[in-house]
Amino acid sequence: MSSQTEPRILLTRDEIAAAVRRLSAEIGKEYRGKCPLLIGILKGSFVFMADLVRSLDFPLEVEFIKLSSYGRGRESLGKVSVVSGLTSPIEGRDVLVVEDIVDTGITLSFLIDYLKKEKPASLRLCALTDKPSRRQSALTIDYLGFTVPDRFIVGYGIDWDEKFRYLPDICYLEDEK
Ligand code: PRP
Repeated sequence: MSSQTEPRILLTRDEIAAAVRRLSAEIGKEYRGKCPLLIGILKGSFVFMADLVRSLDFPLEVEFIKLSSYGRGRESLGKVSVVSGLTSPIEGRDVLVVEDIVDTGITLSFLIDYLKKEKPASLRLCALTDKPSRRQSALTIDYLGFTVPDRFIVGYGIDWDEKFRYLPDICYLEDEK
């Protein structure tokens, strides 16, 4: 695919902002007063995480993990590795994993197993987008922004070949199919 492919808007910045407000209200009902630890998966979650935490009006803490399952192309390599792990213990913490997109589910399934070994008090998942048609590893998303079609999604932190993360809207690349 050419890097000149024109991204088409799938979800506007206003629709995303509304979803972030909805999700923060849902998360607030569960976590207010618990000082949860939000763990973002780099790189893709960085924009969503930044907006989500500013929408949550109660004390919380933030951590990031960098996982790698994709090369610089478009298909998952199907094998996840930890590139940069936790910097502090999560035992006894209420942990909320924050992800930009769930596709095959392989990345999150790996992360859940990885985090469970550290004995958090609770462990839930928040994803801005979900592409259930591509699922290979079953998992439950506790807080979900949008279900998206089987198209290659970019923008709002999500890349193709490290490009397009800067786009403020969530877009799809036209020649996916
Ligand atoms: C993307 C995305 C998720 C993962 C989802 O990350 O941010 O972490 O793929 O795919 P899966 O459900 O099929 O496992 P990617 O590996 O592209 O890295 P990035 O976050 O640095 O863009």
